[in-house]
Amino acid sequence: MPIVRAKTHIEVYAARAASADIHELNGRGKNRAATVMIMDDITKRLELQDPDLAVLDVGCGDGSLLRMLGRGVGVVPTTVEIDRLRAAHAGTPIEFVQGFAQQLPFSPESFDRVVMHGVIPILPTAADAEMAIREAVRVARPGGLIWIGSVPDKDESAYYGRTYDDSILGYLTYVLKNHGMRTAIQALLQVLSSIWSREPYVIQPKELFICPPSSFSQLVERHNLRIVWQGRLPVLAASGEKRESPTRFNYILQRA
Ligand SMILES: C[S@@+](CC[C@H](N)C(=O)[O-])C[C@H]1O[C@@H](n2cnc3c(N)ncnc32)[C@H](O)[C@@H]1O
Repeated sequence: MPIVRAKTHIEVYAARAASADIHELNGRGKNRAATVMIMDDITKRLELQDPDLAVLDVGCGDGSLLRMLGRGVGVVPTTVEIDRLRAAHAGTPIEFVQGFAQQLPFSPESFDRVVMHGVIPILPTAADAEMAIREAVRVARPGGLIWIGSVPDKDESAYYGRTYDDSILGYLTYVLKNHGMRTAIQALLQVLSSIWSREPYVIQPKELFICPPSSFSQLVERHNLRIVWQGRLPVLAASGEKRESPTRFNYILQRA
């Protein structure tokens, strides 16, 4: 597949469904260890091991969280992702449903836990983010918990000095300056291999929904949600060391 310049984040994940490695559906490249760490954190904080809890994972990526639990329902927006997920999780009780965070295809009060990790920031507008929160509240049972994770509190391009926009050369120069020769060579090989293989190389839209904690608390209060916990997103450094993201927050919200 050639280089894909995606106009929306939905196009990003539809293109990634053609990747050889299904983990690309999580948006963390090859960093599978980071996904495991994050899903483990969500599982513990929401006590998802309890088999009596009905769990919904909206924007479930490659289904890592649900695979860890061995059950639950995952939502992704495109049929190409659904096909990939159903094939990868065949023979498990995990269900995958095509749908959008802004309009979930479930009856009210269907789930004890609703997880939306890395989804709110990639919705196209602030109004979409608000619709997604309203929908999470609608499908959660009274007293149920909602996880909204990886919400940026600042402009990450400015924070990290990523000024290359859609330029691949600019991107490679940025990687070389900030992550060293080894990572830059890996990035270059990834770009080159996508030109002659079926592996998509996706250039994503840069806009993210940015919501600092003070604005986030106002937003969720409008939906009668109580913040029961908030903390910085855990990230893994190249050395494998666990750190806190300087730009992203996780939240646990309780429905009244
Ligand atoms: C950054 S990935 C996060 C995947 C997974 N939750 C994780 O953290 O590993 C974003 C996910 O949101 C999904 N997504 C994008 N737009 C969506 C929408 N409008 N409604 C529901 N899911 C959406 C993508 O298909 C993808 O699964």
